[in-house]
Amino acid sequence: MKVRVLNGPNLGRLGTREPSVYGSTTYADLVELCNQTAADLGIEVDVRQTDHEGELVGWLHEAADAGDPVVLNAGAWTHYSIAVRDACAQLRAPLLELHISNVHRREEFRHHSVISGVATGVVAGLGVRGYVLALHWLVEQD
Ligand code: DQA
Repeated sequence: MKVRVLNGPNLGRLGTREPSVYGSTTYADLVELCNQTAADLGIEVDVRQTDHEGELVGWLHEAADAGDPVVLNAGAWTHYSIAVRDACAQLRAPLLELHISNVHRREEFRHHSVISGVATGVVAGLGVRGYVLALHWLVEQD
């Protein structure tokens, strides 16, 4: 199994970005954490981050064509990008929407996700540990 772990805008700045909200783990640490978890689980993982919406849409198309499961932290696009939602709707394997922070405890504009309605499940508020748990869950379903 190959899991695509896709991250949207500003997530490349993890570690320096609002550490009181997102923690001190850097993006490089997050990639390493996912790679190590995948190795432990005996699966393949492809971890990417982009600040460009069209690039994320293209990666989702690739995942749809390959039939691969996706863990998606779409960052701010979560809350308004119909283009990202429409790309997610084309996925054939499970899609886990992920947020490092508990978006429901934060500003009201973060309470609504345009992605949740086409996601298999949502992980929020568990910090970067959420990525580890998401990968374990996907393996359990396989
Ligand atoms: C986030 C939450 C979003 O509201 C925010 O725009 C992000 C990160 C999270 O991981 O908690 O960029 O998706």
